[in-house]
Amino acid sequence: MALGINKNTDKYAVLGNPIAHSKSPIIHAAFAKQTNQNISYEAILAPIDGFASTVNGLVAEGYKGLNVTVPFKFEAYNTCTQKSARALFAGAVNTLILNGNSIDGDNTDGAGLVRDITLNLGFALQHKRVLLLGAGGAAEGVLMPIVEQKPSTLTIANRSLPKAASMASKVSDDFTVNSVSFDALDNCEFDIIINATSTGLTDTALPIPNSIFAKDCLAYDMMYGRETPFMVQARNAGAIVADGLGMLVEQAAESFYIWRNVRPNTQPIIQMLRAQ
Ligand code: ATR
Repeated sequence: MALGINKNTDKYAVLGNPIAHSKSPIIHAAFAKQTNQNISYEAILAPIDGFASTVNGLVAEGYKGLNVTVPFKFEAYNTCTQKSARALFAGAVNTLILNGNSIDGDNTDGAGLVRDITLNLGFALQHKRVLLLGAGGAAEGVLMPIVEQKPSTLTIANRSLPKAASMASKVSDDFTVNSVSFDALDNCEFDIIINATSTGLTDTALPIPNSIFAKDCLAYDMMYGRETPFMVQARNAGAIVADGLGMLVEQAAESFYIWRNVRPNTQPIIQMLRAQ
C-alpha cells in the first residue's frame, strides 16, 4: 500500500503464496501513517518455485525489507546472508532486511506472541506454568522467546511425541522443557496455554482434558479470524480466551521497528482490525 510515493519512499513488501488475504499491507500503512515514515508496503505473490528469484529481483529494485509468510519462511532462512539468534533458533525467517548485497534474516513471531500476551493481554509468563500445544513450525518459532520469559515450567504437548521431544531438546540445559503426548495431560493444570497446532484451520478439536485449564488461566490460539474448537473448549472450561490477531500486529510492529527504528503504538491498529 503506497502512502504518496516519491523519490525518497523506502519500499517494503510481504511475500507469500497465497498472499491476497494478507493484512500486512493495511497494518504497515497504519504504522507508517502513525509514525510519519515515508514507506510503501505491498503484498507480492511469489511463485512456489520462485521465492529466491523474486527476492533477488526486489533487492535489485532497491527494496529495503520484506516480510515472508507461508510457505516461504524456511526458504527465507536459507536465502539469508546473516541470521539473528532468534531466527537461528526458530530455523525460520519472517523478516528480511535488505542492505545492498546483504540479506539479513530475523524472526519476529515469538516476540510478537510474547508482547501480545504480556503487554496487551496483561498476563505474565514469568513464574507461570506454560503449556505449548504443537511442535510444528509455528510452535518452534515461538519457543525460545517463551523460554526467555522464564516460566516456572514449560511443557510441549504434541500428537507426535518425538517431534515434541526433539523441539524440547533444542533448549539449553539451563532450562528443562517437558515434552508429552496429549494423553499425559490428565490431572495437569496450566496458567497459560498456547495453541500452536494447525487444528484451527480444519476445525478439529484437540484431545485435551478440561482439567488443563487452571482457574483464571489464559488460553491463547495463534490463529485469528475464527473461533477455533480449542477456543470454544477453553471458554467453556472457564479460561480467558484470546486469538492471534494481537500477535499478528505485534510481529509486524517488531519488523517495522527493525526496519525503521521506530516502535508503533499497536493498540489502535489491533482495535481497527477487530472492528473490521
Ligand atoms: P505450522 O507451520 O502451522 O506449525 P506444521 O509444521 O505442519 O504447521 O505443524 C502442524 C502442527 O499441528 C503439528 O504440531 C501437528 O502435530 P504433528 O506434529 O503430530 O503432526 C499439529 N496437528 C495438525 N493436525 C492435528 C490434529 N488433527 N491433531 C493434533 N495435532 C495436529
